[in-house]
Amino acid sequence: MTKTRAAVLISGRGSNLRALIEACKAQDFPAEIVLVVSNVLGAEGLAHADSAAIPTRTVDHKGFASREAFDAALSEVLDEARVELLCNAGFMRLHTEGFVRHWWNRHLNIHPSLLPAFPGLHTHARVLEGGAKISGCTVHFVRPQMDTGPIVAQAAIPVLPGDTEDSLAARVLAAEHRLYPHALRLVASGAVRVEGESVVGLSRVRDQAALFSPPLNEGL
Ligand code: GRF
Repeated sequence: MTKTRAAVLISGRGSNLRALIEACKAQDFPAEIVLVVSNVLGAEGLAHADSAAIPTRTVDHKGFASREAFDAALSEVLDEARVELLCNAGFMRLHTEGFVRHWWNRHLNIHPSLLPAFPGLHTHARVLEGGAKISGCTVHFVRPQMDTGPIVAQAAIPVLPGDTEDSLAARVLAAEHRLYPHALRLVASGAVRVEGESVVGLSRVRDQAALFSPPLNEGL
């Protein structure tokens, strides 16, 4: 089976990267991670790639005078590794429009809310402030505007009485670790595609349904 050559872009801890690495170990997984790129020197997540013997590169954004120059350097390392699909996983840089257009429909991101609600930073604090009863996470194709783009998959997480930013973040993160491999499988296998600005092609109910964690009828 020919696997899609994926790269993961990180800036920090890399727990989603670790989940993707684990998923890619399955023989029937349709993608392989051929490169991990960090824009932060010594990012913690690079260790996950090292222990799985996946090549890593650091392209330190501080060394570049403009976003264009940084993205050009990033493109160079991705081209060298013949990357076909990009997965942002806690990558804290905005891409230039040219970069986004180059990777159009071949570039995923994960965000810790149910988009289009709560894009941007400090998501969990804003969810709590807003009194939302359900939060979650989203994997979507990248578009020029931050945290927008066709949605591949989502997981819903109830906000519990007494939740703090940390407790909510921890439950959402656990869902992210299940959601991202699921979404990558759908995209890399060709099970879904973008039509207009929607993701279509899901034929099985279990793929179409958002993932709920825990199932909403539990304990009701
Ligand atoms: C995750 O919550 C992800 O949704 C957001 O940044 C965080 C990255 O965490 N974009 P990690 O580096 O994958 O542990």
